[in-house]
Amino acid sequence: MATHLLSRKIQNMSESATIQMAQKARDLKAQGHDVISLSLGEPDFDTPDYIKAAAKQALDNGYTKYTPVAGLMELREAISSKFKRDNNLDYAPNQIVVSNGAKQCIANICLALLDPGDEVLIFTPYWVSYFEIVKFAGGVPVPVYAGIEDDYKVSPQKLKEALNEKTKLIIYSSPSNPTGSVYTTEELEELAKVISNVNDLFVIADEIYEYINFQEKNPSIAQFPGMMEKTITVNGMSKGFAMTGWRLGYMAAPQWISAACAKVQGQFTSGANAFGQMAAAHALQNEPSKQDYMKDKYFKRRALVKARLDKIDGIQANSPQGAFYFFPNVSQLFGRSNGKRIISDANELCDILLTEAHVGAVTGDAFGDPNSIRFSYATSEEKLTEAMDRIEKTLANYK
Ligand SMILES: Cc1ncc(COP(=O)(O)O)c(C=O)c1O
Repeated sequence: MATHLLSRKIQNMSESATIQMAQKARDLKAQGHDVISLSLGEPDFDTPDYIKAAAKQALDNGYTKYTPVAGLMELREAISSKFKRDNNLDYAPNQIVVSNGAKQCIANICLALLDPGDEVLIFTPYWVSYFEIVKFAGGVPVPVYAGIEDDYKVSPQKLKEALNEKTKLIIYSSPSNPTGSVYTTEELEELAKVISNVNDLFVIADEIYEYINFQEKNPSIAQFPGMMEKTITVNGMSKGFAMTGWRLGYMAAPQWISAACAKVQGQFTSGANAFGQMAAAHALQNEPSKQDYMKDKYFKRRALVKARLDKIDGIQANSPQGAFYFFPNVSQLFGRSNGKRIISDANELCDILLTEAHVGAVTGDAFGDPNSIRFSYATSEEKLTEAMDRIEKTLANYK
C-alpha cells in the first residue's frame, strides 16, 4: 500500500469513529452475535408516507433533471417560510442554499470562509465532523469545553476567554449531538452579546435536531440584535423527518456568504436531487407537529434509559433536553477490573461493552471528551431495555 502518497490533508483526517464503531458491531453480528448497536445517529423511523408520496408525484411530474445549484425555488421558498413560522427569522430565498445533507452545508461554509490559520472555536463535546471539516478547509479547530457539571453548555465567560484576533468562526449544535443539551433563549442571548461585539466573527448554528426538542421551541441565535449578519443557520431533513438517506440539508446566511457556498457547491456537486427537493418542500410546508409522534417516542425512551443509567454505579448521566443521545460521564469506572481486563479509558470501556455485553456505543474521545461515551436511543424500547440489562450485568463484574 502506498498510503504515504495520499495527500497530507487526507493523511491528517481521522475516520469517523461512529462509522468505525458501527462497522465493528456489524462484524460481530456477521459472526452470529446478537449485537444491539446504539452507536449511529439515525432515527429508527421510516420517512413519513406523505413525504414519500410527494417524491413519487414529483418523479411523475418530471422532476428528474439538474436543479439550480442553490436549490429549487419551490424548496427555497418553503424553507424561507419555515424560518419565519418556526424561528421568526426573515431569510429570503436568495439567502438559502440547499445541499446534499447538512454535512455538505457545513463543508461549503468552512471552505467559503476559512483561510489557513483562521481559528474556529468548536463547542465541545462536538459533533465529530466539525473538527475534520475545519482542518480540511485549512482552519485550526479550537475546542471550547464544557463538562457535565455545566450540562455541557459553554458559558459566555468561557467563550470570551477563548476568543482571540485569529478567531473567525464558532460552531455549535443545539440540540446537541453528542450531549442532547439545548441552549435556552437566555443562554443564547448571552452568547450573542459576546459574539455581536466582535468584528469579522461568524457563527454556524447547527439546528438539525430542532424538532427533537423536549423543552420549548428551539431558539435561534440569529434572532438577537446584531446576529443576523454574523450567523449561518444550518438545518436539514435527516433527523426531524427521518430522511437521512435522502441527503438533503440547507443553510441560510447573509447573501454574500450564501453566494460563496453556492459557488463551492457548483464546482463540487451541483444542486441536490430534484424529486427529493420537491418532497422536502412539501414536508416543510406542513406543520412540524405532524412528526410529533417521533418526538413522543424519543421522550419515552429517554426516560427509560435515564432511569436505568442512574442505577448503574460509576455512570453519571445528565437529562438531555433534545436530540436522541445520552453522553454519560464514565470516568468513575476507569481503573475497575474483572480480574482479566481493566477499564483503562472510554475506548476500552466501549470495547468491553461491545465484546462482552454486545452493545455498541461510541467513545467520547471522538467528540472531544475522553471521560464519556455516547449512546443513541433511537431504537425500540425492547432493545433499549435489553441493552441496559446487558450493560448493567457486564459492569457488575468490574470492581
Ligand atoms: C449535529 C449534526 N449536524 C449535522 C449532521 C449531518 O446531517 P446530514 O444527514 O443532513 O448531513 C448530523 C448528523 O449526524 C449531526 O448530528
